[in-house]
Amino acid sequence: MNYYERMKEKYNSLKNKKDVIILSVESSCDETSIAVVKNGREVLSNVIASQIEIHRRFGGVVPEVASRNHITAISNVFDEALKEAKIDKKDINAVAVTYGAGLVGALLVGVNFAKALAYGLDLPLIAVSHVYGHISANYISHPDLKPPFVCLMVSGGHTALLRVEDYNRLKLLGTTIDDAVGEAFDKVARVLGLNYPGGPEIDRLAKSGQPTYHFTVSNSLIHTLNFSFSGIKTEVVNLVHNLSQKGEEINKADIASSFQECVTEELSTKAVRACKGQEINKLVVAGGVGANARLKEKLSHLCNENNIEFYSPVLKYCTDNGAMIGSCAYYMMKDGLGLADLDLTAKPNVEL
Ligand code: KG4
Ligand code: ZN
Repeated sequence: MNYYERMKEKYNSLKNKKDVIILSVESSCDETSIAVVKNGREVLSNVIASQIEIHRRFGGVVPEVASRNHITAISNVFDEALKEAKIDKKDINAVAVTYGAGLVGALLVGVNFAKALAYGLDLPLIAVSHVYGHISANYISHPDLKPPFVCLMVSGGHTALLRVEDYNRLKLLGTTIDDAVGEAFDKVARVLGLNYPGGPEIDRLAKSGQPTYHFTVSNSLIHTLNFSFSGIKTEVVNLVHNLSQKGEEINKADIASSFQECVTEELSTKAVRACKGQEINKLVVAGGVGANARLKEKLSHLCNENNIEFYSPVLKYCTDNGAMIGSCAYYMMKDGLGLADLDLTAKPNVEL
């Protein structure tokens, strides 16, 4: 029997096993992360080697640099993940890996590492979508959370409202027609001369500012669950350029606060409207922008007013991490999905 045929049987047998330990690899952008997750909810370790400092001097992620740094970091991250989890290689039941979406060169490092590991240890390899992974971060933070719920997915690459029908079944309710919201945060931060990544910088700076500027999001999408963030990004860029041309003061904190107020209002009102439309009283936020304090404050307030339960991952599981991939892989395994062969490759985009 070849590897894949052997793994089909092994994979199937995991469904009824009492305790399943998955080692999960994430390398889609600028974090090399490996985690050990038991039964989808219990994180035994979650080691993250961040490259933020390396990319900061370039003002954003340089794909080639990211790939090279994943290569140098990954085997140490692996050793550390086993050590922290206090397990041995032989205790692992399956290997999971993010195959997309993300930077292809960066993803390939994780994919090839995971493949070698799975083959060497004769274990099933599970191919996980990064987007589904972000949703699963909530299962780690909230042990009792189960679908169905509405998810507001807000990351550097995606902005969407999803009906999460079951662990592996999503329905797209609305999406951005141009930029992802994280992208808008990063671009606005850049024009304000803030460090990469821009989201946390704007979050921090906005706390000392007032929303004195009136920015707008697309009016034409007002009755839909779709989003557009390229217009507001341009409004901010134009404002900053105009002020500096006139030699006027640029109050960065006020601009950050005004921008953040406008986009978080748009995201939170549409998220709650989606819950009402779907007649679902559970809202979950996922992805890096889910770390935004003002967004969480607004969502929590609006949900409270509308009798909707609100869930968000703890901060360390909002941004990229291996644990969310391990959690997601567990529920894929339960449904017999995602078993990959050794020809698994990386994909820059994945279908929601
Ligand atoms: O989910 P993530 O780590 O990576 C992707 O899958 O894209 O999201 C990264 C994005 C970046 O755009 C970053 O600026 C944004 O999440 N972000 C934030 C905050 N923390 C991270 N945006 C707003 N407020 C934050 N606190
Ligand atoms: Zn991500």
